[in-house]
Amino acid sequence: MKQRLVIGNWKMNGSLADNTLWAANFRHQLKSCALTGVEIGICPPFPYLSSMRPMLPSSIRLGAQDVSSECIGAFTGEVSINMLKELQCHYVIVGHSERRARMRETDATIAKKFKLVSLAGLTPVLCVGETQQERQQGETESVIIRQIQAVIDACGAGSLRGGVIAYEPVWAIGTGVSAELGDIRTTHALIREQLSANGLGPDDVALLYGGSLKPGNSEEIFSLPNVDGGLIGGASLKAGEFLDICLAARGTPHNRVTDIAQKYDN
Ligand code: 13P
Repeated sequence: MKQRLVIGNWKMNGSLADNTLWAANFRHQLKSCALTGVEIGICPPFPYLSSMRPMLPSSIRLGAQDVSSECIGAFTGEVSINMLKELQCHYVIVGHSERRARMRETDATIAKKFKLVSLAGLTPVLCVGETQQERQQGETESVIIRQIQAVIDACGAGSLRGGVIAYEPVWAIGTGVSAELGDIRTTHALIREQLSANGLGPDDVALLYGGSLKPGNSEEIFSLPNVDGGLIGGASLKAGEFLDICLAARGTPHNRVTDIAQKYDN
């Protein structure tokens, strides 16, 4: 079985004090479980990237939540791909639905970001997903295909090799209600088909699910075909819950960290 991948997206949460506690709890709880066969990434907000690196075990990879579509220059408030590389980021999330909606990021801008990340040798995590309205109008398939095709058209299918696509239905994010297993299965199969039509096999691109993933539902979601792991928002803010999700990704029965080490959790 190929190595599973679990990435925590902290969004605009945390503080120096919170992050220090999170890292201490994570390291402590990690000692009580044999966590092998799972690749783990953490994406804190930009200002905390450099302070998080030495606090995390070296096996945990650092990621950024976004990147500028420009390389250098007069772009106030933006963060370039070279800066992220210098800060030892491995992953860069592009096209998160919160940025598509709030910052009006277009497929074209997202494809530009994707290209910069892959040219820099970092691993892009392309987020795709339909809104509630698009779902109700029966547009889920066409939205997902369009969002992925925009990257293929702009960057070439080869740029997706070694990359990550996260299917995050917008209506499932932060709601506590994840997508139905059948919906995740169908959409992940659709994405695999699209990738395969572009010459990309199952080992070329990791497919993650995101949207209200938590310790209670991660095992069944990770057992679905074509699901290689998860992109976790809210549940990644608690070290114990995040670790439980990472343990579920191993695919073997385990004792919950949150049951045996509750008192250490932040
Ligand atoms: P939640 O896990 O909080 O639903 O967020 C998912 C997400 O948006 C990760 O990028």
